[in-house]
Amino acid sequence: MALNLLIVDPDEEWLMAAKGFFENILYNVKIVNNGKNAQIALSNEKFFAVILNIHTKNHSGPQVLKFIKTRHANQKVICITDVDDSEEADEDALTPSVIKKMGATETIVKPFEFPDLKQLLEGHQSVGEMVSNIPRRKELGPEEEMDLEDSKFTKVKISEFYTSQPVLFDLFVQLRSGRYVKILHAGDKLDEERINKYKNEKKVEYFYFKREDLYKYVKFNNYFAKKVIGSDKVAGEKKMKLLQNVSEKFLEQSFQEGLKPQILDQGKEIAENVFNLVQEQDDLYKILRSYQDFDPNAFTHSYLVSIFSTSIIKQFEWQSKTTIGCTALACLFHDIGKMALPEELLHMNSDDMSEEQLEVYKTHVEKGYELLDGNPMLNNSVKQIVLQHHEYFDGTGFPYGKKGSKILTLANIVCLADDFAHIIQDEELKPIDALKELLTRRDQLTRYNSRVVENLIKVFADPAKIAKNYVLPSNSKVVNKKAS
Ligand SMILES: [Fe+2]
Ligand SMILES: [Fe+2]
Repeated sequence: MALNLLIVDPDEEWLMAAKGFFENILYNVKIVNNGKNAQIALSNEKFFAVILNIHTKNHSGPQVLKFIKTRHANQKVICITDVDDSEEADEDALTPSVIKKMGATETIVKPFEFPDLKQLLEGHQSVGEMVSNIPRRKELGPEEEMDLEDSKFTKVKISEFYTSQPVLFDLFVQLRSGRYVKILHAGDKLDEERINKYKNEKKVEYFYFKREDLYKYVKFNNYFAKKVIGSDKVAGEKKMKLLQNVSEKFLEQSFQEGLKPQILDQGKEIAENVFNLVQEQDDLYKILRSYQDFDPNAFTHSYLVSIFSTSIIKQFEWQSKTTIGCTALACLFHDIGKMALPEELLHMNSDDMSEEQLEVYKTHVEKGYELLDGNPMLNNSVKQIVLQHHEYFDGTGFPYGKKGSKILTLANIVCLADDFAHIIQDEELKPIDALKELLTRRDQLTRYNSRVVENLIKVFADPAKIAKNYVLPSNSKVVNKKAS
């Protein structure tokens, strides 16, 4: 069933254009050009969202907003305004921050394009709403060949595409740079047979979709991952891959669009999925021993860091769902400050950098902290982990050269997981071999709290075989796992 949308704007011509646009992407649209009719519509019908031009007259925009908030507190309202926060607006100007205080869910400032509005709306759809808003087709739509800019697309390995459900967005195959074939329209079903046809007969390696659909992709796959992770019929390796896939696309999206609230919500869902996987998969140690992913890209790296960090924390007595969730999220963002570094540094190994380059590289931790700071959706541990993930136990790290117990244990765990993931990716080693390699690097081991190293070792051990009374030497304040 299509989602109902109410659009309120004094400009008739714009209203008609908006109606056309949103009906085309399958919303059920009602348009009104004054506040009074908006209130009548709201009293008679239910809407998924209201798009309200705050400069509407005859029941003014703010009056309508107030009406909505008192009668239907949960109603999503996207307000359009033409005054920006940054402008020298006078006190009662209807700027986005003023309108948000009045209760608007989102604001958008003119001029904007319809797809911007579409994206805002999609950011507030639940998975159920997303699914209900796709067309149901009896037959597959025709394949269409078209010229499109590569930068508009993102790709996913065809082998990692799991679906027997209708796809939520158009899916493409790349013929060559700039040339694509739309193979599925939103709402078409992608079945096993079709995947095999592309994979085996046409030797297609990747499916492409538009970057503007990343949000839908991540949201749906997070939901899917949650179900899969909870099922004991699916192999652990497959769960790991699925979560990796969604984490990578999530990071691509955050790097592209910044840390908007809806995006951070998805990050939290991923962190929760990581928690569930680490907590519930009894044979995780077996999978982790041989998990191979040598793709050196930064998104894969962040995922590996989050899996290893949370697996290490799981070995500690003081672990909790909140701790693991926070750390998993911090791991996804640990190197987000690199976004602010010069391009050439991003592809360099820190060992090959000149002294000046190294100094610039080191600022990524503070830059990351600054990016996250002030974001009320992130708690302080997440920010501190990002800031301290290169502090070393022996005091030789950066940015502050903190030492020993002055360093957040969670940050030291991420530090170890980070270096460990680098060994796997740079040296192309299986985790179990990377562990052996790490343990030979005596100089490097002084970077970490020895309890943390011991717990990394335990990540790869069969929990059933770990002696229950095994008491570890401790140089930190953490409590040893006691015999139960
Ligand atoms: Fe880093
Ligand atoms: Fe890193």
